[in-house]
Amino acid sequence: MCVIETTPRIETRRLTLRAPQMDDAGRLAELCNDFDISRMTSRMPWPYARGDAEDFIARCAIADRRTEVNFMIEHDDAGVVGGLGFDRNADGAIEVGYWIGKPYQGRGLASEALVGAMDWAARSWKKRVVTAGHHSDNPASGRVLCRAGFLYTGRIELRDSLARGETVPCRMMVWLP
Ligand SMILES: CC(C)(COP(=O)(O)OP(=O)(O)OC[C@H]1O[C@@H](n2cnc3c(N)ncnc32)[C@H](O)[C@@H]1OP(=O)(O)O)[C@@H](O)C(=O)NCCC(=O)NCCS
Repeated sequence: MCVIETTPRIETRRLTLRAPQMDDAGRLAELCNDFDISRMTSRMPWPYARGDAEDFIARCAIADRRTEVNFMIEHDDAGVVGGLGFDRNADGAIEVGYWIGKPYQGRGLASEALVGAMDWAARSWKKRVVTAGHHSDNPASGRVLCRAGFLYTGRIELRDSLARGETVPCRMMVWLP
């Protein structure tokens, strides 16, 4: 049976992944209003205003937790440093995405968060297959996914990038526990 936690919380060595709350909006807008982040995602707008953060947090609160769960990535010392979320994609598969604010990149935080999140997805959320894709001009995300055990499928999908206003080739990957 699938166990659905209402407010999943994931602890890793330096991080806590927990549900977004409305008082995260300011911090979210501050870190996400960065084209280098939004251009690597499908749906993050750019510019990214506080209202975009509030809309996102409100949507998270009413999401169907069988197929969509979003986390703020909170660092023990620095507070919120990023976000990570699972959602159902156009093919009906569960797909993971994440970002880390620029001042905090290059410290292994995305890898640590993703490893913790995939462990939770398998053990508590009872998912057996999770997909991901990174833009072909984003090798850093490919490294993060490989470190968390994702494998390349060989498939390249053309995905819309809201921030770029164009479609971008996306290298698809899959994770099996
Ligand atoms: C991709 C992103 C999440 C990485 O976050 P991070 O906390 O810096 O990631 P980590 O430090 O855990 O790991 C980054 C890895 O990429 C590698 N890397 C960084 N820049 C790279 C580059 N230009 N080419 C190849 N590898 C690169 C690092 O060496 C590291 O790998 P290693 O640990 O094997 O040495 C962050 O850059 C980001 O938020 N980017 C914008 C949003 C985004 O891309 N989201 C993912 C969408 S699929």
